[in-house]
Amino acid sequence: MASSSRLGLLLIVSTLYRSSLIAALAALLASPSLAQEIGVYSGRHYNTDKELYKQFTKQTGIKVKLLESKDDALIQRLKSEGSQSPADVLILADAARLDRAAAMGLYRPTSSAVLSREVPANLRDPQGRWYALTRRARVVIVNPSRVKPEQIRTYADLAKPALKNQLCLRNAKSPYNQSLVADQLILRGDAATKSWIKGMVANVKEPFFSSDTPMIRAVAQGQCGVAVVNTYYVARMLAGKKGKADQALAEKVKVVFPTPTHVNISGGGVTKASDQPAAALKLLEFLASSKASSGYANANDEYPLKGFGNNPILKRFGSFRPDGVSAFQLGAKNSQAVALMRANGWSF
Ligand code: FE2
Repeated sequence: MASSSRLGLLLIVSTLYRSSLIAALAALLASPSLAQEIGVYSGRHYNTDKELYKQFTKQTGIKVKLLESKDDALIQRLKSEGSQSPADVLILADAARLDRAAAMGLYRPTSSAVLSREVPANLRDPQGRWYALTRRARVVIVNPSRVKPEQIRTYADLAKPALKNQLCLRNAKSPYNQSLVADQLILRGDAATKSWIKGMVANVKEPFFSSDTPMIRAVAQGQCGVAVVNTYYVARMLAGKKGKADQALAEKVKVVFPTPTHVNISGGGVTKASDQPAAALKLLEFLASSKASSGYANANDEYPLKGFGNNPILKRFGSFRPDGVSAFQLGAKNSQAVALMRANGWSF
């Protein structure tokens, strides 16, 4: 073979070799194992949440690696992992927890036209560190055979002497109760909130509870006539998610929305540790969009960011007037609320 044709052959072989290398590399990049993936730490643990993450992956190609645990454990974990944390998004329940995580520097400020449009201004951090994804109402439930629902129009009514030994109350450790007290501090001021707590504590049927569901049972069974709980705990029981016995008990209590109603949130933000903040922000935008928000809310019988959703159990409760207090303010007032509870006999 002449040297020129040998050179030609060599060129053809090397071109083929290179193009197959490029093709192999392209195939590798497109394979699922190398697709973009973000880490999500979530204090929400509802199976239907996972369905929404799948939809997000389908829509964007971004995979979600989920770690679910208790909110406070996730905060601690993220703190100890520091900049090495695999979490790009941190999702938590309760405004004060979101604020605490932000104060610890776990979130980074972000701005997004979609989130500004989808999340009402009072339900997001003014610095863009976290955004509400669902709303939850902390309401009054009564056993109508012991307390007339008309007796309760506002949270202040829970302190009336007529309810002596009728009130079941969750302890002061509950972030939900801390946020309710913060809410009243904002709306009614220090003096009125202090005497409200004193009045309620005087009405309490001991012991203080450590979670909401047993209080719903206690009201249904007539151990007390009235209690303060989040609506989704009642809805969960009514839907039969806790079994037939609890379903029958929930039928015995009536949900009363104080006017106006205190609203808390679950929400999330992009972590400071994130190395993919743009992808992380995309997930928040997806979850806050009106379609996903109602799915995310329904997963836990909560309310979407706007309106009352179409959950048939929540529809039975009817609508309510949210008090419009900013979730950020609830966080800012948390330590004052806790001190007031401690000083006035609300058991921890
Ligand atoms: Fe809860």
